[in-house]
Amino acid sequence: MNIIVIGSGGREHAIIKKLAENPEITKIYALPGNGGMKEAECVPVSAKDLDGIVEFAKTHDIGFAVVAPDDPLVLGCVDRLEEADIPCFGPRANAAIIEGSKVFSKNLMKKYGIPTAAYEVFDDPAAARAYLDTASFPIVIKADGLALGKGVLICADRSEADAALSEIMETKIFGESGNHVVIEEFLTGPEVSVLAFTDGETVVPMISSMDHKRAGDGDTGLNTGGMGTVAPNPYYTEEVAERCMNEIFLPTIRAMNAEGRTFKGCLYFGLMITKDGPKVIEYNCRFGDPETQVVLPLLETDLFTIMKATRAGTLSSLDIRWKKGAACCVILASAGYPKKYESGFPLILPEQPKHGAQIFVAGAKLKDGVLVTGGGRVVGVTAVAPTLAEAVKNAYEAAEDVKFENRTMRHDIGARALACKGE
Ligand code: AMP
Ligand code: GLY
Repeated sequence: MNIIVIGSGGREHAIIKKLAENPEITKIYALPGNGGMKEAECVPVSAKDLDGIVEFAKTHDIGFAVVAPDDPLVLGCVDRLEEADIPCFGPRANAAIIEGSKVFSKNLMKKYGIPTAAYEVFDDPAAARAYLDTASFPIVIKADGLALGKGVLICADRSEADAALSEIMETKIFGESGNHVVIEEFLTGPEVSVLAFTDGETVVPMISSMDHKRAGDGDTGLNTGGMGTVAPNPYYTEEVAERCMNEIFLPTIRAMNAEGRTFKGCLYFGLMITKDGPKVIEYNCRFGDPETQVVLPLLETDLFTIMKATRAGTLSSLDIRWKKGAACCVILASAGYPKKYESGFPLILPEQPKHGAQIFVAGAKLKDGVLVTGGGRVVGVTAVAPTLAEAVKNAYEAAEDVKFENRTMRHDIGARALACKGE
């Protein structure tokens, strides 16, 4: 079978490598993919070009499509492909709104009693400012719509909050996404990412993970797309997992059904384990990046079988298994990221990475047949080992053999998780 994977980052590379293990799949096209994805044929069709995607699928005998990034999902890529009779992994637009609109997701949680930070919604900057007069700080201000992962501003005091409001609602730094804002209570506690497969009835959480979002060691510096991940997340104990299933995962799936917005695909729960129990920080309608780069290498069951079951509504009949042990992914980025950085430097990848590590290429292109850097996050190196301490050590050792100019990384991926475990 020929399949297409929409997207171009490290997450998509991890999905492609896993799908390539299934002998039923004879050809994988990545739209647009990147020059480092050897397992796929990259086709220069943008992930947001829905007409181009549907046209390609119809003319290349495509039997299945995986839509990975948020933009095409929220724009209705799955709806369009299904209209053309192409089965997909991913939610339709009316369910992808769970990520596409923070106002929608907060109101959903309030209506169905799903634990989350207390909040108010505003479409008028003056009303938002009047609310801030009575608020306590720090406080969190979120643009309603998609904002390239940058739409959340944590404001330490009133002047920061005023500045955030005028940037989002008046200067419109995130465009139309800032027409509405959510102002919410600042929560504290360890964060856990849980990706879950769901067919709209059954929900199967994957192994939990921990992202490292800030650019610098010790969680300092700017927010990034994610500088590394570990799985499992030691803060996600069995007791927390059980509460999440009963108080968050199942209620969310049922709430979406009750709203006529059945969610099929991967639902990402961004959780904070507060002293009052687990609460939802955010939902994403897709696999996380770079969470996927540690979660899928630990998946034992065939990914394509699971993806087809989410579409068919047969997830409850599968026994989804995970490898024992732990995984660590270290992101190698271009110096300057997430701000300005240079790219176009030759990217040298080891033929046989140390410790059997996997290399997921996030930002690279082929220039005259030579692989060169082409993005802020360039490569993710993932090692799987019996213990987290070994996985971390092995990922860093394997990362040494990935070479490019202006290479930077965090040196403490996994440190917090190891401290929690007392290792
Ligand atoms: P997001 O872009 O929604 O992933 O949010 C980015 C980060 O902001 C999250 O990973 C949290 O660390 C933080 N954050 C979001 N909402 C809150 C909140 N209500 N309280 C504390 N931190 C938050
Ligand atoms: N790693 C966070 C995300 O994918 O949104």
